[in-house]
Amino acid sequence: MVKAMINFNVPSTLIVGGGASGEIGNQLQRIRCKHALIVTDAYMLECGIVDRIAGYIKEKGISVSVFSDVVPDPTDKNVYDGLDKYKTVGADAIVGLGGGSPMDTAKAIAILANNPPPISLYAGLHKVANAGAPLVLIPTTAGTGSEVTKVTVITDTERDVKMMMLDVSLLAQIALVDYELTMSMPATLTAHVGMDTFTHGLEAYVSQKANPISDPIALSCMKLVADNICTAFNEPDNAKAREAMMLAACQGGMAFSNSSVCLVHGMSRPIGANFHIPHGLSNSVLLYDITKYSINGNLERYATIARTIGAADEGDSDKDASEALPAYIESLNQRLNIPRLRNLLNNDKELYEGRFDSMAQAALDSGSPQNNPVVPLHSEIVELYQAAW
Ligand SMILES: NC(=O)c1ccc[n+]([C@@H]2O[C@H](COP(=O)([O-])OP(=O)(O)OC[C@H]3O[C@@H](n4cnc5c(N)ncnc54)[C@H](O)[C@@H]3O)[C@@H](O)[C@H]2O)c1
Ligand SMILES: [Fe+2]
Repeated sequence: MVKAMINFNVPSTLIVGGGASGEIGNQLQRIRCKHALIVTDAYMLECGIVDRIAGYIKEKGISVSVFSDVVPDPTDKNVYDGLDKYKTVGADAIVGLGGGSPMDTAKAIAILANNPPPISLYAGLHKVANAGAPLVLIPTTAGTGSEVTKVTVITDTERDVKMMMLDVSLLAQIALVDYELTMSMPATLTAHVGMDTFTHGLEAYVSQKANPISDPIALSCMKLVADNICTAFNEPDNAKAREAMMLAACQGGMAFSNSSVCLVHGMSRPIGANFHIPHGLSNSVLLYDITKYSINGNLERYATIARTIGAADEGDSDKDASEALPAYIESLNQRLNIPRLRNLLNNDKELYEGRFDSMAQAALDSGSPQNNPVVPLHSEIVELYQAAW
């Protein structure tokens, strides 16, 4: 069978390193921007990062407006309000500043600037006809990797569904990846977003869409997380660990955006939409059971992951190495104080079970489970939700 050709997309300009966010003025000047709209959230405004970034932009004689109403797990309403502001102030470029939520909102606003609403028209794969407005992304979590992905995730408030959209038009033109902006992350946020990064690397590597360009990037991502996440969690001021986690996040984004995510993300989005559990956390609580379920679909790849991150020895057989991975994940979750799903849902099992059918359907409808090494039936997804309790 002929394998599909590789289609690998990343932003055309990627500036990575301490202080990279200070390049924003130069970069906007380079693309001839006259008026930038910063899309961000309330915390970014309060802690002064927005003022600092706006200052760099104004220094170059470029006007700045700010839209700071983005909420975690951003909604279609966020997108329309931001688009309104973009048009009202007459901006000609968008700067997404923050975690995945502001960056994803910025991406959706950028495409709606040149494509008709509603945003739900673009849910799924390759649905965007026109290129979006010029877009610069500056992440402050490490993280989603959204700064380098051709993906956005927006909640449809009418149906309470997290819509995943993938299209090359969702790529930023410029990404400024500055780990110094992540130094203020509290420990729990560091753990949650770091586990999201790890899951991106893992799913990109085991996906049926994995390829020789995304593979080494995905392995590097997982190794960086394995070597640094506990240090970043326990020592928030450790710049080396923060820098490594930021690099891992960026690599995780590049890897999954050009391979795919699989069953963990497929099952985690419905949990996020139904129970408003942060994205990285909803991945973490599923990762152990889904890994255990999936390893037989590709022993060799799971074994390579286990050896790469130090969960197994080089001499271990594929069977032994791959089987060591779920235990490693469980112990990592414990070291990062990741609670069980039942604790997050106040032991309300009836509420949880009542959503199984619709959550399993939403997972399948997203298309992500179909990339998994073992493709589950609806009933198996329900069993996995049950096991993760
Ligand atoms: N587009 C993609 O490729 C992609 C990939 C994975 C996840 N996502 C989406 O990203 C969203 C989650 O993003 P996230 O996990 O980065 O969280 P987030 O953007 O929702 O931020 C979570 C909280 O952390 C705060 N915060 C951000 N940076 C901080 C910092 N440096 N210091 C202290 N606090 C800080 C924010 O203000 C917010 O209160 C979800 O909607 C998820 O579905 C998108
Ligand atoms: Fe993710």
